[in-house]
Amino acid sequence: MKLQRLTLIIFLCFSCFQMTMSKSQYYYTSIFSFGDSLADTGNMLLSGALPFPSISNLPYGMTYFHHPTGRCSDGRLIADFIAATMGLPFLPPYLENGRSFKQGANFAFSGATALEPEFFRNKGLGPILWTNISLSAQLKWFEELKPSLCGSIKECSEYFSKSLFLVGEIGGNDYNYAFFLGKSMTEVKSYVPKVIKAIIASAETPINQGAVHLVVPGNLPIGCSAAYLTLYYTPNKAAYNNRNGCLKSFNSFAKYHNSMLQQSLETLRHKYPQARIMYADSYGAAIPFAHSPQHYGFSKGALLTCCGGGGLYNFNISARCGHPGSSACDDPSSYVNWDGIHLTEAVYGHISAALLNGTHSEPSILGFNFN
Ligand SMILES: *[C@@H]1O[C@H](CO)[C@@H](O)[C@H](O)[C@H]1NC(C)=O
Ligand SMILES: *[C@@H]1O[C@H](CO)[C@@H](O)[C@H](O)[C@H]1NC(C)=O
Ligand SMILES: *[C@@H]1O[C@H](CO)[C@@H](O)[C@H](O)[C@H]1NC(C)=O
Repeated sequence: MKLQRLTLIIFLCFSCFQMTMSKSQYYYTSIFSFGDSLADTGNMLLSGALPFPSISNLPYGMTYFHHPTGRCSDGRLIADFIAATMGLPFLPPYLENGRSFKQGANFAFSGATALEPEFFRNKGLGPILWTNISLSAQLKWFEELKPSLCGSIKECSEYFSKSLFLVGEIGGNDYNYAFFLGKSMTEVKSYVPKVIKAIIASAETPINQGAVHLVVPGNLPIGCSAAYLTLYYTPNKAAYNNRNGCLKSFNSFAKYHNSMLQQSLETLRHKYPQARIMYADSYGAAIPFAHSPQHYGFSKGALLTCCGGGGLYNFNISARCGHPGSSACDDPSSYVNWDGIHLTEAVYGHISAALLNGTHSEPSILGFNFN
């Protein structure tokens, strides 16, 4: 009896030792995230910014959480999959009251832009901005939170050196707002260097405080999004990629942003050789689903949304997902597009796997350990 109990205790202790080893020794001890609706785990909803936000209703959240959480998808986001792999809790939104953020915090906010709201107001785009919580406002939140995480410069530096910083995805909305209000490709292209500069500056803030591990994602293939496909519909077949049916000009635009981002990240790596700056190639990770959706289990194809209110791509600006007149499919995992802008949990799961194992991140998120 006694021996059995002792064996049990030894076994239990061994298990917890193993758990500690695998969860905190090898991987990051916390995650901090900045970004927009691709990463927001509840801030926009908690802020009450929009009086009747569609994301506060099912079908948002239908697959995994079974209730709306403020995530713009049917379930988990890329950041959730990354956190779970590290053995960390799903990233808590910064605006969630009364909880500890020692294992990380999410400052991402749906609708957020990389550039300041003034930039858009000056261009006549002010009225369609969802929020003023741009990247710089999120960095201010980070500064506000810091005293509750660590004290001295040395202590903070030590703490942040074991954290993973997700700097984006951000910048997509800077372009969405402009394109959705009909700004020309030439004009929107002129925003790209400014957007990249803002992203790089926001990566430098945590680096200067001791951050070592940063993931900076690129833009998705927006030419495959049902919103772009609908708003920029044209009978001109030459506008579409004949392999995947996506709008060529918008995918080229995303690649233009991504290549400029990669160049700037290379400069940043030279400036901070101690930092491990990872480029997350979301475009490269997502484009195979557009080329051969069936191969990845997306039997309904890549362009049609699961949740929408009719139309060629099931994206209807007057009946968007979560609004009256729209409905969701029964099987989101057989779709790539969730609501026309955002992707399904199934896709986010695939993308996060490819970032974690290094297929589409350079270097890979898991490609190191602290020992
Ligand atoms: C953003 O700030 C401006 C100026 O302070 C204000 O007029 C506007 O209502 C704000 N917009 C949002 C969405 O909070
Ligand atoms: C889009 O939604 C509106 C409002 O519900 C509806 O009247 C219209 O028929 C829909 N369009 C299509 C193409 O389904
Ligand atoms: C990495 O993950 C992706 C996505 O799940 C997968 O296609 C790929 O085969 C994986 N590669 C390795 C080396 O594990």
